[in-house]
Amino acid sequence: MRANISDIEKAAGVLRAGGLVAFPTETVYGLGANAEDPVAVARTFQVKRRPPSHPLIVHIGDAKHLDEWVADVPATARLLAEHCWPGPLTLVLRRDRRVPLEATGGLETVAVRVPDHPLALGLLSAFGGGLTAPSANRFGSVSPTTANHVRAELGDEVDFVLDGGACEVGIESTIVDATGETPSILRPGGVTREDLETVLGRSLAVHSTSRVRVPGQHPSHYAPRARVVLVEPEKVVAEAELAQELGHRVGVLVPSSFAEAPVKVHAVVAVPGSMAAYARGLYGFLRELDQAGCDLIVASLPVEEGLGLAIANRLRRAAGPRPS
Ligand code: TXA
Ligand code: MG
Repeated sequence: MRANISDIEKAAGVLRAGGLVAFPTETVYGLGANAEDPVAVARTFQVKRRPPSHPLIVHIGDAKHLDEWVADVPATARLLAEHCWPGPLTLVLRRDRRVPLEATGGLETVAVRVPDHPLALGLLSAFGGGLTAPSANRFGSVSPTTANHVRAELGDEVDFVLDGGACEVGIESTIVDATGETPSILRPGGVTREDLETVLGRSLAVHSTSRVRVPGQHPSHYAPRARVVLVEPEKVVAEAELAQELGHRVGVLVPSSFAEAPVKVHAVVAVPGSMAAYARGLYGFLRELDQAGCDLIVASLPVEEGLGLAIANRLRRAAGPRPS
């Protein structure tokens, strides 16, 4: 059942009492807690089974509140916020003392965004403060894009779930380190690199292994249970059928240009041709193949431009580092 105004009021009450509320954003569902309540924030880490050194994103209801949460805002950050909020962009900036170190994993910077979803904005407005909200999944697994994904994965450990149906973007926000003169992308996501470059009038580097993430510590992020193998688009069908013959239960993400003939494997997903539709569906496809009992998923990387950059980033992480 879709949430209504009285659900939003109830959810805001749960947050005020120190509880955890899962809520939809335009990207994925978040596991919300009062950003100024260190105990509630700490519980988020427990429920996610996430190491407390891994910082959270603070969600706020309006760009005009930005200065209440960060210490100083460079002109470039201001420009990005103006153009992209509400929307799937997260800015990393210097922390104001209002933000507890529990939320930032001990860092002096904080990640902030204004989500573009009526229920998220309604909740933020009813609650009145900021909400830390990591994706509402266990650490390392696939982010939830429906309320049912959240319930299936977190069950009773979340105090309230606001159901907003399926998320529109389907892939997490783009994270930009905006602390210095030269911003850079720490995680590709729902706002494309090209759009950000147009706003800034200059090119942006992608450093998707940020300083806060120790390389090799968390090999596969955004990962389904099944092992993910990436091959060239034209080899997807043949490799998938071969693995199936060798005894695997194979799920395959068939690129749109090769989706003609039937594929003789356990489960088949035809990847949408539009990158927006692919991003929207990606995590659901991975969950679907897990549920079908696949032990191996064969896929290929899309062209890494537009939303294809974020999709390729998630597929690479799901595949984890492969032995060379
Ligand atoms: O779309 C999204 O961003 C979703 C929705 C719920 O808003 N949230 C989300 O949160 O993806 P989470 O916790 O799953 O991912 C947050 C990422 C982490 O990779 C973390 O390392 C990075 O943000 N991050 C947070 N604070 C940071 C900081 N101060 N410096 C660098 N990276 C930071
Ligand atoms: Mg996450």
